[in-house]
Amino acid sequence: MEIINSIERRKSCRTFTNESLTASDREMLEKFIKSNNKGIDDKSIDFTLFEKGDSDVQMKIPYGLIRGNKTYIFGKIPQTKADRVNYGYILEKIVLKATERNIGTCWVALFDRDYFNEIQIESDLSVPCIIIIGYADEKVPIKEKLIRKVINADKRKPWETLFFNYETRKPLYAKDVITYAEVLSMTRLAPSSGNTQPWRIFYSTSTNEFHFFKKVTNQNYESKGVHDIDMGIAMSHFELVSKENELKGSWQNQESKIQLIDDLQYVITWKCE
Ligand SMILES: Cc1cc2nc3c(=O)[nH]c(=O)nc-3n(C[C@H](O)[C@H](O)[C@H](O)COP(=O)(O)O)c2cc1C
Repeated sequence: MEIINSIERRKSCRTFTNESLTASDREMLEKFIKSNNKGIDDKSIDFTLFEKGDSDVQMKIPYGLIRGNKTYIFGKIPQTKADRVNYGYILEKIVLKATERNIGTCWVALFDRDYFNEIQIESDLSVPCIIIIGYADEKVPIKEKLIRKVINADKRKPWETLFFNYETRKPLYAKDVITYAEVLSMTRLAPSSGNTQPWRIFYSTSTNEFHFFKKVTNQNYESKGVHDIDMGIAMSHFELVSKENELKGSWQNQESKIQLIDDLQYVITWKCE
């Protein structure tokens, strides 16, 4: 139940202690980052754990008021939807691994891109988001608490607005998918940009498949491709909890045969075995 515990405990940390990661935490994470670099289509992304020294200037972060930050995880990817989905999918597993070891994290899309000037980013690649990682300061400033309130960070949309029956388009409740109820509950707890929760999941009773769709809930995030990362994050929660509960299945692209649903964009399907 380690993964469920990590999903339930994880929340964005915005006040860090300004300490470096301990050698053992760093080693554990670096090993994990190396071994966990495969996306759903077997494409890999190499993430880097990167610390800026005390003498360096602090990174300016336009929103979120993050403090005491020193260490970052980032990867460079081509600017395609599939690569962004993979970015979220792989990196969230690293976030949950860090949570397991009580290391604080925050996904950050709005960051100072010039801050990483010393890192060469090839012209056909980009860093769509970073993770700020470190130890959480116990004293959370009032401003951080306020931000969490403003974006309703502790809340998630109700089940019936996120999960549906594919055939009837009616809301899907836990009682309708008992074996997958925990998987969906844990997917619902995934972090998303501005807590926008763009994932909509449709369960097909006839084929025993879960179809993942993206609802554009914020044009600003969508234009920067961040909602695709949100989708990848939700997929990693779904897959990890399925594995934990010994529910076998695999990801499939069924774009050519999927029915269009309102204003939603099809992303991927989980085929239950
Ligand atoms: C892809 C992505 C980008 C995010 N970008 C930022 C950001 O730029 N600044 C920030 O303070 N929080 C950012 N967040 C954190 C979200 O605001 C947070 O996950 C959400 O409000 C839910 O809160 P929780 O993570 O504590 O559960 C981002 C989250 C995700 C998943």
